[in-house]
Amino acid sequence: GLKLTFYSTLAGTLYVSYHLYRESNPPKQIPQSTAFANGLKKKELVILGTGWGAISLLKKLDTSLYNVTVVSPRSFFLFTPLLPSTPVGTIEMKSIVEPVRSIARRTPGEVHYIEAEALDIDPKARTVLVQSVSESEFFVSNVKYDYLVVSVGAKTTTFNIPGVYGNALFLKEIEDAQNIRMKLMKTIEQASSFPRNDPERKRLLTFVVVGGGPTGVEFAAELQDYVDQDLSKWMPDLSKEMSVILIEALPNILNMFDKTLIKYAEDLFARDRIDLQVNTAVKSVEPTYIHTLQSGQKASDIPYGMLVWATGNEPIELSKVLMGKVPEQTNKRGLLINDKLELLGAEDSVYAIGDCTAHTGFFPTAQVAHQEGEYLARTLDKKLEIEQLEWDMLNSTDETKVSRLQGEINLKKSKLDKFNYKHMGALAYIGSETAIADLHMGDSSYQLKGMFAFLFWKSAYLAMCLSIRNRILIAMDWTKVYFLGRDSSV
Ligand code: FAD
Ligand code: NAI
Repeated sequence: GLKLTFYSTLAGTLYVSYHLYRESNPPKQIPQSTAFANGLKKKELVILGTGWGAISLLKKLDTSLYNVTVVSPRSFFLFTPLLPSTPVGTIEMKSIVEPVRSIARRTPGEVHYIEAEALDIDPKARTVLVQSVSESEFFVSNVKYDYLVVSVGAKTTTFNIPGVYGNALFLKEIEDAQNIRMKLMKTIEQASSFPRNDPERKRLLTFVVVGGGPTGVEFAAELQDYVDQDLSKWMPDLSKEMSVILIEALPNILNMFDKTLIKYAEDLFARDRIDLQVNTAVKSVEPTYIHTLQSGQKASDIPYGMLVWATGNEPIELSKVLMGKVPEQTNKRGLLINDKLELLGAEDSVYAIGDCTAHTGFFPTAQVAHQEGEYLARTLDKKLEIEQLEWDMLNSTDETKVSRLQGEINLKKSKLDKFNYKHMGALAYIGSETAIADLHMGDSSYQLKGMFAFLFWKSAYLAMCLSIRNRILIAMDWTKVYFLGRDSSV
């Protein structure tokens, strides 16, 4: 037993050290160039975004085959599955980000990064209009492409409900988590300055989360954990007065999960004092309270001290611009693509992946964006192999060679397969060291819940991390919280 522990620890340490060394000492990259050694022009591949889709593509692609340029206003990848853990300090924000520069530097070919927002795409001229977001140079320019990958994600929808902007906080980006953390701390301190039983104190200590999808549920769970496990020690009286309300318009939360798991989560919320209000739709938001309809009837207003809004996705401005100018883009929920992830109306040069697309049949998740990014990397690698063969064929006068090359091209083209999504299941943290997992393997599905599912959730997310550095930092954060509690000071 002791020997086994020793050897497995040694193997683990060697594995981690080797990968850490490789991550921090990237090998030399092949520089960008106008053409390959055989004269074939090197194509410009422009990737918009640094999220799940874009980074999965970048990591998997042989970047020496194209002149790759990444355009995104966000200079880092964000590991969103653990974002709900950050506002209350279960996980530090630095632990779930990874600079795009270091990801790009670890690929075989040189990659250019432009810290800018894409404003418009001209599929005919094959250009993207970009606006720099770096403070020193705030200018607009055109970036030319041969192939473009649109992976710009989505934004949180408000359904144009009045008052959401200006009063509610969102949970999509790292700044959102920072804003929630600051508001949380400020509101608690503000509340403590009022005497007990003061209605203002009660209002300030009411935290409302709107949207019972996984974002709302995971954040409400983290918030209640913070109240029960940390605040209860340092502000015992005040913590008893705090309430977390989760509001969902439909009869159930977490509608993507199996019914048994939904019931389990709802029961746990009842036990953990999370006030779940289903069949309740928010109709308008005022600075200190929200108006709701309960089963279609007007319900009493709910005062709040902090409001977090998580009611799903809608397209960002760039996607809307593209939908407006490409006639084939008839769906207003997202960009339409074919089964090879090519954008309808610009199939020869534009791909779209991830949350910016109108998915049919599956939810807009990291899992989908990741698989799409990896599929596209394989496709682009294969496309270049075909172009190389076509180039050789064009420059050859030997008839036998030409017919051999033609055969090879036909074979490779036939192998350009469609994107085939493999759903592995869904996971969600629901508080008090419990999680739910709806796992899919082939045609079978398995449901896990409770403590075991929580351990599974932790291991799955560690495995999903894109770097060893992130894995180590996240594991350290969990250990730190276990022994020292959460540090949610601003
Ligand atoms: P994103 O990852 O959102 O990336 C979009 C990128 O585009 C960003 O880099 C952004 O800066 C950039 N961008 C935006 N506008 C422009 C522009 N105009 N020009 C250029 N670039 C632009 N999914 C799961 O599968 N499991 C989970 O546990 C999970 N947890 C989640 C938790 C939270 C809190 C949230 C918000 C989402 C979660 N998701 C989860 C969903 C998952 O994060 C998304 O489905 C995934 O991020 C989609 O990837 P994407 O590349 O399409 O978009
Ligand atoms: P969502 O679309 O999954 O859920 C939003 C919820 O808000 C819905 O249940 C909807 O009925 C409710 N809602 C809408 N309007 C409302 C109103 N006015 N009042 C009250 N309730 C209202 O959105 P979410 O959670 O932001 O997730 C976005 C995407 O990211 C989803 O596809 C989700 O699958 C994915 N995600 C996955 C996670 C995971 O797998 N653990 C974690 C977080 C997000």
